[in-house]
Amino acid sequence: MRVLFVGDIYGEEGVSFLKENIEEIKKKYKINLVVANAENACNGYGITTKIYKDLMKMGVCAITMGNHAFSNKEIDTLLAENANIVVPINFPTYAKNGYLKVKYNDKTLMVINALGRVYMNMALDCPLRMVKEIIEKEKADYYLVDFHAEATSEKKALGYYLDGINGAVVGTHTHIPTADETVLDNGTLYITDVGMTGPYDGVIGVEKEIVLETFLTGRKQKHIVAKGRRQLNAVMLDFDNKKIERINIKEN
Ligand SMILES: [Fe+2]
Ligand SMILES: [Fe+2]
Repeated sequence: MRVLFVGDIYGEEGVSFLKENIEEIKKKYKINLVVANAENACNGYGITTKIYKDLMKMGVCAITMGNHAFSNKEIDTLLAENANIVVPINFPTYAKNGYLKVKYNDKTLMVINALGRVYMNMALDCPLRMVKEIIEKEKADYYLVDFHAEATSEKKALGYYLDGINGAVVGTHTHIPTADETVLDNGTLYITDVGMTGPYDGVIGVEKEIVLETFLTGRKQKHIVAKGRRQLNAVMLDFDNKKIERINIKEN
């Protein structure tokens, strides 16, 4: 099974750039299933029903979220209607929405989303234990864990903790791709951060002037999605042949 995992889709720029590139990527990498993180799809804050439908039309079969899971209220309706969305499993009271099984022919892929706790400043349950418990409880042929976390150490630690599962642990949230894609000792595919899909000329998705102003004055400014060139960051995960490959595309 070959899965494309797309890193944090940020704003309309991210949605449109994915749409323009996805068919070619699917063909080139012989993709069976597409999973995408869309926690920033609505102007940086959460997801809407419209964006959800747009992504489904592109052939995305499951959407993962992160610390911005609940930034847009429409997520409540989507979850109530059993949309193919997972929110971090360790959000207190949202454990049942933290994983999802997707069928491909006679195989099942389980997609799990969890949030890191280091530098996150949120009330969260233990991501390591919760992810491991659900994997031990729910059987699937393949597992894909999107660990949405700030600290590289926490992500690598979860990778080793889960090493041996038939599938992958991929990191998201920092919006900057790392170059450490690897196959862990017991065969699990791993990367610390996939990177983001959205504006290229900005500070992790936001207009650079706004972020500079925040750092220079100490006053928080309203975020606006950066204009200009766009980028797409993803990974191709070949679970059967134990291969992970980075896909980094940017506009000239
Ligand atoms: Fe993000
Ligand atoms: Fe995030």
